[in-house]
Amino acid sequence: MLKLAAYGGTKVRKAPLLVEEHSKARFGKEEKKAVAEVIDSGHLCRVFGAKAKHFENEVSEYFSVSGAAVTASGTAAIHCALAAIGVGPGDEVITSPITDMGSVIPILALNAIPVFADVDPKTYNITAETIKAVLTNRTKAVIPVHFIGQSCVMEPILHLAKKHNIYIIEDCAQSYLSTCSGRLVGTMGDMGCFSLNDFKHITCGDGGFVISNNKDLISRARLFADKGYTRTEAVRNSVLFGLNYRISELQAAVASVQLKKLASIIERRRNFARKLDNLLKHVEGINTPFIEDGIEHSFWLYPFNIDENKLGVNAETFAWEVTAEGIPIPFPYIGLPIYLYDPLKNKQIYGKSSCPFECHLYGKNVSNIKGLCPVAEKSLTNMLILPCSEFFSDSDARDIASALTKVCDYHLKGQTSR
Ligand SMILES: Cc1ncc(COP(=O)(O)O)c(C=O)c1O
Repeated sequence: MLKLAAYGGTKVRKAPLLVEEHSKARFGKEEKKAVAEVIDSGHLCRVFGAKAKHFENEVSEYFSVSGAAVTASGTAAIHCALAAIGVGPGDEVITSPITDMGSVIPILALNAIPVFADVDPKTYNITAETIKAVLTNRTKAVIPVHFIGQSCVMEPILHLAKKHNIYIIEDCAQSYLSTCSGRLVGTMGDMGCFSLNDFKHITCGDGGFVISNNKDLISRARLFADKGYTRTEAVRNSVLFGLNYRISELQAAVASVQLKKLASIIERRRNFARKLDNLLKHVEGINTPFIEDGIEHSFWLYPFNIDENKLGVNAETFAWEVTAEGIPIPFPYIGLPIYLYDPLKNKQIYGKSSCPFECHLYGKNVSNIKGLCPVAEKSLTNMLILPCSEFFSDSDARDIASALTKVCDYHLKGQTSR
């Protein structure tokens, strides 16, 4: 039996898998040219420049929607969307416990209450059933988070929302171009929110955008992102309370070039994932990513898990052993469900007050405690995540599969010889 690198054997992969060259290769002369154009124009702020406005038009066309509002981040995009639909004190907004704080900060920043629906154990996405279980007459909106590249199963969620007259704000930060029954994420709910931070499929460093087929909502989101200024009237007025969530012209210029690369990035990632699936599908003990019928994954990352009973090893040790083989699997990928993060657990959002949780306009008890979403908590203990990149080659896929196979074999054979 081959000795694992973790216990003194030879590594499957000697060269690093994640390399700076891949990071740099995301940007080329087109991005440089676009940035230079902004500098040459003398206007770096969107109020005076053309790039951000142009990017909004490009995004609308790309997703075939009525309008887009570009923002300073994905978090800002969700904040603008929630503000546009009028979320405020006393409202509840349902979302996923397995996400980034960026899905939850905007709810709290509007003095509303985040309510967590449990996830499906195979996709880690919230579902119509889990949403229904926490729905109340206070629910104003649901933010389905399309996790790690896979759209939520949207038809039953949309049906539920319609029945209860609640808004759907899709969080698409991790799932550009994933589809559900052929429909793109972001175009199914009332509004779709995207992030352009440095870790996403496409990036301009930091940025985001909201899309919608409702022009009124987009116009409110735009106003919220620019202090409520219409910038058309002779006498300046703020027509709606808002923040400064403007993206700069420099970022918009980069984002615009990146958008043109998006389809190819997703295609290459899907090809890579398909190759990995094929190499891993017969490896005893490995469960390749579970994808719901009718959904197309866009592989922000490559999620999988192991049959811990069959292999006789837990996910944490497995991740450590594979990492020692030269294939990094950070574990845990996300340690805690969001509701156990300090500000939520301790209900400390606004200074020493317990607002919004104990706001008189809410008047209900909130318990962000362990056990709130048992499936999510369990999933976080066995979820394994491999990196995915449009720059990974066939030989990278083979190395990843070899490392996983070696570790599985080691445990399977070790068990039979015991
Ligand atoms: C699911 C999800 N929602 C929202 C965000 C927030 O995006 P940003 O970092 O651009 O504010 C992120 C970012 O990691 C995310 O992964």
